[in-house]
Amino acid sequence: MTTAAALASMGHQVTCIDKDRYRIDTLNKCDLPFYEPGLESLVRTGLNTGRLQFYYSLEAAVKQSELIMICVGTPLNVRGEVDLSALFLVIKELRELDLKDKIIVIKSTVPVGTTAKIAEIFAADHREKGPVFIGNNPEFLREGSAVTDFFQPDRIVIGCREKRVEEALKQLYAGFDCPLIVTDPTSAEMIKYAANSFLALRISFANELANLCDLLDIDVKPVLRGMGLDKRIGLNYLQPGIGFGGSCLPKDLTGLIGICRRHNYPAELLTAVQSVNENQPEFLVNKVKREIRKPLEGSKLALLGLAFKPNTDDIRSAPALKLIEYFSVLNLKVWAYDPAVKVLPEEYLEKVVMSENIPAALEGAKAAVIATDWPEFKNLPWNKLKNLMADPLIVDGRNILEPEVMGEYGIKYLGMGRKNGVRFCGH
Ligand code: UDX
Repeated sequence: MTTAAALASMGHQVTCIDKDRYRIDTLNKCDLPFYEPGLESLVRTGLNTGRLQFYYSLEAAVKQSELIMICVGTPLNVRGEVDLSALFLVIKELRELDLKDKIIVIKSTVPVGTTAKIAEIFAADHREKGPVFIGNNPEFLREGSAVTDFFQPDRIVIGCREKRVEEALKQLYAGFDCPLIVTDPTSAEMIKYAANSFLALRISFANELANLCDLLDIDVKPVLRGMGLDKRIGLNYLQPGIGFGGSCLPKDLTGLIGICRRHNYPAELLTAVQSVNENQPEFLVNKVKREIRKPLEGSKLALLGLAFKPNTDDIRSAPALKLIEYFSVLNLKVWAYDPAVKVLPEEYLEKVVMSENIPAALEGAKAAVIATDWPEFKNLPWNKLKNLMADPLIVDGRNILEPEVMGEYGIKYLGMGRKNGVRFCGH
């Protein structure tokens, strides 16, 4: 969606295709199915100028297009493998159309070698139907800042074997002032997995360091700053907390581990990154268990934040959901509030009460847990809000508040590695 609307705003004629007619109809009314800052106005402009269209006929759209981008989801299946069924369904449908001289670009994150496999399929059709050109162009947009990420890319990766694909993609992205990496499709696929897995590695490193700082009674914040200001290291993606979630980092890390395993490579480092992440919510739960006034059972707990990160209403693989599962086992009464997430899937209905506002969540709670770093949680009048709570205890799973300030307000504050003297009590 973001790529399409942004490309349309650059003057390209873009037609978005989806099988879901309801979605297409609502998009044509500029009714977006998710929240993404800046996207709605981009889509509206695209619709008004006629440069952006939403349609359900693949055939009609393909006929009038020079370049076809495949952006379908590639989720993990129950076995933890990348599910390419949506991708291959599109390929099947495309093969039934007249594709002579068209360029097909895979934008979905796909396991290394997939683009080459698709190129082979089309090459086999070639003799009868004429040439089709295949490329890979991974995207690096983050949810919540996808529009700005699109217009300010750190790099653009073009994976192709033919000059024609390279030229078409260079033309598509003409005007961007960033390095352009032109490589083969397999390397382009690997770049995407490598980038997301490395970001995951940095976060797990920061989390491991925070857990150690808890044991040593050291504040992790100056440690990470002191470390990250080294230009060779950098400060980004070193924010400790309750782990990374979302639809990409966990999925792509698991995907890369799967690729390693298929090649009998043990993936020791990547597996450790994953297990640190999986264990991280439990560190927060242990803090709650230890610090909350007993009895634990039946106590009200406020959960602030459900989205996997701020500025989105996406809860896919959100660490907050793992917390809800743990709290439910402990029979805590969870009252959750999130500025963007207003409904949870059915399986959570009995485990959590959705609060309309922050005071409703805090009223009578024995602890408040911060699970998403929404900026508005940082700037709350905590000195007043604490009076609503049964006990003024904040467990900050995203380290957005300052222990000293909370101390001055008379609030017991526990962060992740924030020198709060809470010892690790095992899993
Ligand atoms: C990620 C990649 O950043 C992006 O390049 C790719 O295209 C898609 O996947 P996204 O999933 O939108 O983007 O979120 P991101 O901002 O990377 O955050 C992922 C998770 O890591 C969130 O749960 C976030 O809270 C967590 N995180 C991030 C940390 O815990 N600490 C950090 O320092 C940074």
